[in-house]
Amino acid sequence: MVSSSKAFYGDYLKYQIGRLFYARMGQLLPVLKGEETLNYSGWFSDPEVAASYTMAQHNGSLATAKALFRRVSLDHVQRMLDVGGGSGAFSVTAVQRVPSLFATVLELPAVCAEGRRLTAAAGPAAARVEFRALDATEPTRWPVEEASQDLVLMSYLCGSIPEEALLPLYRNAFGALRPGGRLVVHDFMVEDSKDGPALGAYWALQHVTVNPQGLGLTPSGVAERLAAAGFEVLEQSDLIARMTKADGMGWDGSTDDPDCADGSDGPPILSLHGDVDLGFLYNPIRAFLLWRYLAVHHPIDCDWYAKVDSDTFLNLWALLQRLDTYFNGTQLHYLGSLKPAQPSVEESFPFAVNSIVISGALLRKARTWLSLCFHDVIARRHQTVQPLTALEPGASPLGAYQEE
Ligand SMILES: C[S@@+](CC[C@H](N)C(=O)[O-])C[C@H]1O[C@@H](n2cnc3c(N)ncnc32)[C@H](O)[C@@H]1O
Repeated sequence: MVSSSKAFYGDYLKYQIGRLFYARMGQLLPVLKGEETLNYSGWFSDPEVAASYTMAQHNGSLATAKALFRRVSLDHVQRMLDVGGGSGAFSVTAVQRVPSLFATVLELPAVCAEGRRLTAAAGPAAARVEFRALDATEPTRWPVEEASQDLVLMSYLCGSIPEEALLPLYRNAFGALRPGGRLVVHDFMVEDSKDGPALGAYWALQHVTVNPQGLGLTPSGVAERLAAAGFEVLEQSDLIARMTKADGMGWDGSTDDPDCADGSDGPPILSLHGDVDLGFLYNPIRAFLLWRYLAVHHPIDCDWYAKVDSDTFLNLWALLQRLDTYFNGTQLHYLGSLKPAQPSVEESFPFAVNSIVISGALLRKARTWLSLCFHDVIARRHQTVQPLTALEPGASPLGAYQEE
């Protein structure tokens, strides 16, 4: 709630919940009695309402988008369709993570205009997000080619449109996806038993004032319709605890990921499985092995990755404050305390030792080099210095390390 915080989402509460939805709650009774009716396209025919809602949603969705893409892998996603994508918060987050990804947001026209304005602030990556006008309740074909998308996302859309529009919507998504592509539905939902959680139910209640024909969303209600549209539902789980759920195909990281310390509720710290001393003292091998493991298994889990000695005290909070203020994890950064790497050779170059921080963007880019460097360093060590007996138990030339 502190406006200078990077995780600030006060505008969402102030402008969308406070001003727009709170005002609509006064109309709950007439809406329930059928004396008044409203839907999103009618509500957003006032451009000021559309702009203010969308700006506030952007403020609320950026952090949720990060959380979603920690769970949903963007590996092999080159084309993504963000239906009812609002400001494009999820699309911008996705294209910032994957430099070759293009996203298309389908939205009501007034929202497209505001979304273009908001995403422009995201820098060059925003050029890979396009907005196309669509009323998702119209039985028209979507303005994208059949089977052209790797991922279709619907975040908070299914609770925003009438129940009868859901099945056609899912069928359209099925047609837009390539074979094996994935649909992710993320929304406020209550449990199938409909006895909670309260926060999901309160959201649904306020939404009645702008979408009285909507379905009260539950995991089984969504899953039944997805199955009727041809989808195989692979996973359903909470995204924002006690509020929103996501249904998806090909979910990547469930909370029982052996490398995650405590699922999605805890601090965003990745604790590596099998993080033990490798029993040999050649630093470059250990460092390359660590970076490469992260590049292969956790390339999008964090904006920043730090390596420090086990007896080093690192003030993570202060470090993150500075990284967030002065640097951008989507750019290539290699930061650390510098020392000459080859003091004995005439031409030395500065090299970070002891404490090294690299950006997520660099880790992803370095994935191939790290493999090459790792194998190169092993080969050199074998041939020129002393045999790495500790690395050679049994048949494996690399010992404990097995190439996958
Ligand atoms: C809560 S916002 C979510 C926006 C975005 N998906 C996100 O999660 O940040 C719901 C969005 O659904 C969109 N929407 C509602 N009815 C729609 C319709 N008939 N066609 C297209 N979009 C619609 C709204 O314009 C709004 O941007």
